[in-house]
Amino acid sequence: MTDDILTGPKVAIIYYSATGTVHELAAEYAAGATAAGAEVRLLRVAELAPAAAIDSNPAWRAHADATADQPLATPEDALWADAIVFGTPTRFGNVSAQLKQFIDTLGGLWNQGLLADKVYSGFTSTATGGGRESTLLALYQTVHHFGGIQVTPGYTDPIQFVTGTPYGPSHSTVQGTVPLSDETLESTRYSGARVTRVTRHLLGGRGLEHRAG
Ligand SMILES: Cc1cc2nc3c(=O)[nH]c(=O)nc-3n(C[C@H](O)[C@H](O)[C@H](O)COP(=O)(O)O)c2cc1C
Repeated sequence: MTDDILTGPKVAIIYYSATGTVHELAAEYAAGATAAGAEVRLLRVAELAPAAAIDSNPAWRAHADATADQPLATPEDALWADAIVFGTPTRFGNVSAQLKQFIDTLGGLWNQGLLADKVYSGFTSTATGGGRESTLLALYQTVHHFGGIQVTPGYTDPIQFVTGTPYGPSHSTVQGTVPLSDETLESTRYSGARVTRVTRHLLGGRGLEHRAG
């Protein structure tokens, strides 16, 4: 009797989070992708802010300490992945410097054409909602340079009509006072599942490996 295990496309979820919101979204995104059959790497990028800045915000310090042991993304992870999903807090309507710094380390892979034809998507968090879509659009500019294939949630599921986040999952913390809603969590899991399914389809089954148990 064979005990085959199906492993799906490889999805790298690469994010920066200062106070934990994007970290929560990343975990939920990973859960949705995993449930849809993806092999997931959940990776943070390196902190760039000086210790004094982190210490000035207790929530930032607490999150930095709690996640210090979690693995850091490397360019090899981008090479490994069939789909790359970036998560970032909004910074003046733009991508955080920390995530952007990681993306800029991918220049060598880009130069060799090794980031083309992969699936890309993104998610974000804001304090007020201001800039959530411009942040994702700014992120997606890079995808065009990579020659990537953008897979966003759009309005492809009823939950998207509730959250109104066609560019990618996002949350507004209202200055850190509002936790992620059930609807946002569902939309985030859905987005992870959609990226997984579309990537598998684009791979034409190449992302499925049968392994004898
Ligand atoms: C320098 C800076 C710029 C920010 N710009 C915005 C902004 O344009 N719009 C907004 O709603 N929140 C803005 N914020 C708030 C962050 O986006 C918010 O704290 C973040 O989404 C929380 O995510 P995290 O818990 O993963 O760090 C800014 C925060 C900082 C430190």
